Amino acid sequence: MLIRNATLPDGRTGVDLLVRDGRIAAVGEQLFAHQSPPTDVEIVDAEGWLLSPPFVDAHFHLDAALSYGLPRVNASGTLLEGIALWGELKPLLTQEALVERALQYCDWAVAKGLLAIRSHVDICDERLLAVRALLEVKRQVAPYLDLQLVAFPQDGLLRAPGAMANLKRALDLGVEVVGGIPHFERTSEQGAESVRLLCELAAERGLPVDMHCDESDDPLSRHIETLAFQTRRLGLEGRVTGSHLTSMHSMDNYYVSKLIPLIREAGVQVVANPLINITLQGRHDSYPKRRGMTRVPELMAAGVNVAFGHDCVMDPWYSLGSADMLEVAQMGLHVAQMTSQAQMQACFDAVTVNAARVMGLVDYGLTPGCHADFLLLQARSAVEAIRLRPPRLQVIRRGRRLASTPPVIATLGLAGRPAQVDWTLRR
Ligand code: FE2
Repeated sequence: MLIRNATLPDGRTGVDLLVRDGRIAAVGEQLFAHQSPPTDVEIVDAEGWLLSPPFVDAHFHLDAALSYGLPRVNASGTLLEGIALWGELKPLLTQEALVERALQYCDWAVAKGLLAIRSHVDICDERLLAVRALLEVKRQVAPYLDLQLVAFPQDGLLRAPGAMANLKRALDLGVEVVGGIPHFERTSEQGAESVRLLCELAAERGLPVDMHCDESDDPLSRHIETLAFQTRRLGLEGRVTGSHLTSMHSMDNYYVSKLIPLIREAGVQVVANPLINITLQGRHDSYPKRRGMTRVPELMAAGVNVAFGHDCVMDPWYSLGSADMLEVAQMGLHVAQMTSQAQMQACFDAVTVNAARVMGLVDYGLTPGCHADFLLLQARSAVEAIRLRPPRLQVIRRGRRLASTPPVIATLGLAGRPAQVDWTLRR
């Protein structure tokens, strides 16, 4: 396959990209200006549209996805009622229904150009039903989507009976990342203890860590500090991710001025989940209501790798969503007020390259030698893609077309005006 005349997220235009054997063989501006292009390949005229590496979701819950309304909806809209509701649903789950819903979500994801997902999977269930279901889904989607699983003790590692044993069993079955939820343990001390135990387990087994951490508006929820400390103590730098970190929104500025350098020093990566935390947080406030997302621009400015995750789609915590990481980026941009050109660009990175780094994806990107995984979007730039959330004209993985969507063009019936409009800005 040869893509001709594309625009890249870094702003380069007139770019050609040649695929050979599922990898990017060459990429550059007008590659074939002085020689004729190969004749044994499919040629795709990108017509100047945006060619991007695939979207990556570094934080999701595939076991709960598309279960909205089962067995009822979350009336208060809080995290805690969501956890209780999920607890009501768990005994009613079947492996068949879990697999079915997860596969449907993966279809949505592929159609939207989302080709890698890190999903937490609840291990607080003696049967490990969700673990077995998602391992089956991982096997089935492997030809077209990278699914990475995190062993997640939803009801608390120390709070839920048997959680540590179940978590180890899940890892034995092939779950590849150690999860946690220290702010949901019974006390702050137990939260800190859970962080220590889980990091030690990860060190022992040579696994990465990705913990739900401080997903609350309580400025005194400081488990991220312990997570950064344990990361350094155990030499886990670069392998640990703190997800949510919403309490940082409410923390004292002086304390944060000490905390962010500690996170950076420990090489802890961060995932913010804007769609979910703008709806879940601030529920105990009257007015003003806090936004409750972690301090994304400040973390980025300090050199911390920050990604945006979707977290939930149609589940006990969130009633909307469509596997569109551009919706996630757009919400992140608004909540964090990241409105400069560089910051909007950074929001696009947060759902592509930064998220790929969190997942540790190998050979991801648009440089020679990388996997031939990319999208063609009906937009002229990364910022325009966030603005329009446009059709994914082509979704390609390993040089193979997985999905395509026709461009959106409206036909106008206005006298004296152009007959067609597509919302992109041509200069
Ligand atoms: Fe989550």
